[in-house]
Amino acid sequence: MADPELTRALGLVREVTDFPEPGVLFQDLSPLLADARGFRAVVDALAGAVPAGVDTVLALEARGFLFGAALAATRGFGVVPIRKPGKLPAVADRVTYDLEYGSATFELPVGALGAGNRVVVVDDVLATGGTLAAAAGLAARAGAEVTAALVVVEITALGGRARVPLPVHAVHGV
Ligand code: PRP
Repeated sequence: MADPELTRALGLVREVTDFPEPGVLFQDLSPLLADARGFRAVVDALAGAVPAGVDTVLALEARGFLFGAALAATRGFGVVPIRKPGKLPAVADRVTYDLEYGSATFELPVGALGAGNRVVVVDDVLATGGTLAAAAGLAARAGAEVTAALVVVEITALGGRARVPLPVHAVHGV
């Protein structure tokens, strides 16, 4: 049976139509993040979905940082932030990918990830899947073993998980 605290927490996600572009249904997780028990319940749900042997969370800018870092601290993992351009003093690798609205680039910091790391990729929302696929590709090119992608909300109608070359666990589907 579903955890009532988790169910309540997921009910705090606010859907915003036509943001940031017309036709996009934005998932605003801010009310969930601001709710102490709700945030805890979601982080615990993510923590329970991590495959065995993982040592590192790959957390995606920007909202993936919040859940990824909390998960890493909860489980005792390291966290590697995957950044938008112009933020890192030393870039190991970068990838440009398509978004539901436009395109974006991710950069991997030098010295953060390599062979011997076993990682999970963490983000807030899975929409078209381009973001998770790009991040997973960066980690794999760095030599890490990428085990799974974990998200809080999956927009199932977009079919994005088919683009992600990993097992995907979503706490909630909309
Ligand atoms: C949103 C969301 C995911 C991504 C999902 O991020 O936080 O990272 O889109 O989209 P996809 O599955 O279609 O690739 P956004 O690019 O808006 O960046 P932000 O987190 O920095 O706001």
